[in-house]
Amino acid sequence: MVAPTGTVRAISDIPRNESLPEHVAVIMDGNGRWATRRHLPRVTGHAKGVERVRELVTACAEKGIRFLTLFAFSSENWRRPRIEVRSLIELFISALDEELDKLHKNKIRFRVIGDFERFGRRAERRIKRAEATTCDNGGLTLTVAANYGGRWDIAQACAELAKQVQQGVLVPEAITPEKIASFLSLHDMPDPDLFIRTGGEQRISNFLLWQLAYTELYFTPVLWPDFDRAEFDLALASYVKRQRRFGLTGEQVEAARQA
Ligand code: IPE
Ligand code: IPE
Ligand code: MG
Repeated sequence: MVAPTGTVRAISDIPRNESLPEHVAVIMDGNGRWATRRHLPRVTGHAKGVERVRELVTACAEKGIRFLTLFAFSSENWRRPRIEVRSLIELFISALDEELDKLHKNKIRFRVIGDFERFGRRAERRIKRAEATTCDNGGLTLTVAANYGGRWDIAQACAELAKQVQQGVLVPEAITPEKIASFLSLHDMPDPDLFIRTGGEQRISNFLLWQLAYTELYFTPVLWPDFDRAEFDLALASYVKRQRRFGLTGEQVEAARQA
């Protein structure tokens, strides 16, 4: 595989499987519609969605995928009814409480990206504890994007860069794409190889705007609470068939593969 310039070295004990994506990023969409179709409250769909998260994390760990990044709550989701926002935060905290020991036992490194302080002190404490407990684990890195927005991420990186210029430790000419990437939330991971969005919408919804530049995109109408292991295998099968060119010609990629 021809790697794009500026990729970072992955921190992982998992041996690299060249045919599978190293990093999978998912927009888990369709929980509300899943519940509404069954005449159930939307929050029931979110609860069912948490079960699918467990399943996907297990599948990724078993397959030797190194990084899984999940969009759980966008910076725009605050616009939803208060009761739904509250339930989403509570579900997140309780799932974390229930799963932390299991994550740690399975050597999973847990991370949260996004401006999660807005979720309150209780959530913040739980998140920091989970990150600290699992930070040295060498298995799957599970990153949850919570109160995350791709534009927010780029803006906070720019603010950091501006601070460094102001302090005189950085000259504007040194601001390269690699330098910007080093200040983004996923700075120590390779960019996603495969992006999956369930729920039928074909948009990015302010997820990893910078990092998805060369990611293979996979959209499925399957609603997140129905996205089982077989559906994940279909996404992986679609990924495996693609030729990633990173600007090269198909012939150049083929020649590099055979060399
Ligand atoms: C995704 O499901 C979960 C979050 C955004 C938190 P939705 O709640 O967006 O489900 P739909 O799109 O309304 O069906
Ligand atoms: C994207 O889903 C965010 C998450 C899954 C957390 P949304 O349901 O909020 O996206 P839009 O509003 O349909 O674009
Ligand atoms: Mg949605």
